[in-house]
Amino acid sequence: MKAIMGKPVILTGLRANNDLHIGNYLGALLPIVDMARSRVDDYHINLFVPDLHSFTTPIDHGQLQDAIMQNLRVFAAAGLPLDHDDVYVYRQSYVPAHSELTWILDCFTGMGEMQRMTQFKDRIAQLEAERVSVGLFNYPVLMAADILLYGAQYVPVGEDQTQHLEFTRDIAERLNKKFGDLFTVPEPARKQHEFFGKDQGLRIRDLQNPARKMSKSEESGKGIIFLTDSPAEAGQKIMAAETDSLSEVQYDYESRPGVTNLLDILKLLGGTPNEFIGQAKYGLLKKAVADRVGEFLQTFQKQLAAVDDNQITRKLENSERQMNEVANDRLLKVQKAVGLRP
Ligand code: TRP
Repeated sequence: MKAIMGKPVILTGLRANNDLHIGNYLGALLPIVDMARSRVDDYHINLFVPDLHSFTTPIDHGQLQDAIMQNLRVFAAAGLPLDHDDVYVYRQSYVPAHSELTWILDCFTGMGEMQRMTQFKDRIAQLEAERVSVGLFNYPVLMAADILLYGAQYVPVGEDQTQHLEFTRDIAERLNKKFGDLFTVPEPARKQHEFFGKDQGLRIRDLQNPARKMSKSEESGKGIIFLTDSPAEAGQKIMAAETDSLSEVQYDYESRPGVTNLLDILKLLGGTPNEFIGQAKYGLLKKAVADRVGEFLQTFQKQLAAVDDNQITRKLENSERQMNEVANDRLLKVQKAVGLRP
């Protein structure tokens, strides 16, 4: 059966490089899983693994297959309803139209546009020169193709991806102007935040360095709670979290980023942060967060161990077949517009 993208599309990709952490879980995965559980009658939900994006920076290629499969298990364990027909789960490279459209979009993208991307600039500052690939430079164009092939309107991404989303809108409008209506332009970041509730723009921060987001590129790992951490390991990291020397618990990203981060984590995991506001003892808040995170990890890890790999494989085969049809339809429109097809 041909998948027809009649309903608006909500789409996001979650990279499979290293272990996922609760920043990825709370910030990126949970919003789309919630949508898939509560709004699937009104929307198509696309959650894919951007495997081609995985080696824009150097990785261990021997582990990529495992990492992809593990990501998919995490989706299932987080409660993504795999049995629902309007939830599509796929691997980017299994839909070759992503690569094809990227090339076409590349030819309408300015060098300067890509050079200005702050994520690119941050990454090249961290990497040695010979490890900066053209793929890394090109990363946002592939991301635009990921979104535009499916006409996605809503794209829940972290704050660090906002610029890539803006580029996606720009390139879509540019081609629509030149060739007529080829693409659905995704909503701007502000509207995305409205749609997903304002927490969506939030980012979970590194526990040791709350000025930075929790990120797998952070060296020590002490400020990161991995989904594979034991409750005891996570508890230690939380009890050692960097806070501030002010005297009471308050929400304030500016002056109290560490404490505010803990309040956010507690709230997103279903705890009650408000009872700690105004308290003088940070230790009580930390203890509550550690307990809540510990319970969460225990439940999550049990669910992860119970995931049925066969169910995932069947879902992938189904979704990838349907997504190839949708993506190829859109690609053909573009190929015709640019003169590659009669
Ligand atoms: N760049 C995203 C990230 O690192 C992952 C991603 C790739 C993505 N393609 C996408 C997210 C398309 C949303 C839509 O978080």
